Amino acid sequence: MPEELFELELFGEGIERRYRKMRPEVEAMPWGTLDVSGIPENVLVLARKQWTGAAFQEHRTGIACCAALRALLECRAPLDLIAMASRFPLDEVVHVELCARMAMELGGGTEIVHDPDDLIVEAGEGLSPLMRAADMIVRFFCVGEALSIPLLRGTWHAARHPLPKAVLGRIVKDEAAHGTFGFAFLDWADPDLTTEDKAHLGRAADRTIRAIKKQWLSIEKNRNTAYDQSVGDALAWMQSDDYLALAAKSMEQRVRRPLRERGIHPSA
Ligand SMILES: [Fe+2]
Ligand SMILES: [Fe+2]
Repeated sequence: MPEELFELELFGEGIERRYRKMRPEVEAMPWGTLDVSGIPENVLVLARKQWTGAAFQEHRTGIACCAALRALLECRAPLDLIAMASRFPLDEVVHVELCARMAMELGGGTEIVHDPDDLIVEAGEGLSPLMRAADMIVRFFCVGEALSIPLLRGTWHAARHPLPKAVLGRIVKDEAAHGTFGFAFLDWADPDLTTEDKAHLGRAADRTIRAIKKQWLSIEKNRNTAYDQSVGDALAWMQSDDYLALAAKSMEQRVRRPLRERGIHPSA
């Protein structure tokens, strides 16, 4: 398994100028205004880790959006739905940059080693184009993205400094469309999904829900060791009881309930 460092770069010149023109809000943020002098070193390191980890997650989500987008085209989903989803990879690239720059503002990114061939779980072999799209969209959007929205919004509310507030505000704004998209797709696909298809999608949702619950457990285990709520919430990374309570509530209301309403029953 090839292990590579998660590093980012810009091409620069005209290419960067064109990118900046597409998303001018990135440069408009109050970069360079974060004073970290009063923050204890161990808390700062943890904050840098959190934001680097967030950049890496956004990078993975970008890959997930591209994989889902390809499947959407292959199953000839409605053009307007495809058009809407085609904006998502760019959104995620912007989020990667925003999170990585937040880590830089706090003193620099931390080391993440990864296997670039193993960043998303592909849909299983032998599925029809429609089910390939549905499998990925249920996991990436109906669970992953739908759950991340209320959590991001909670973190955005807790953020007190204008810079993380602006960064999270932008991400929250983009993600609103990502969260509803998955369920819109399911509503369109519904007449063509059999009972077995829906059982398959329930199991797919289960796998993702279980993986997320594992992450919550590790947050719960670590939250009392170095997390300082007064500083952490100010720097906009929540690891508090509030976060975990919101996460559990959101999983039920934003993920499981709307899936159940569409005949998809995750058991996890
Ligand atoms: Fe994102
Ligand atoms: Fe997203």
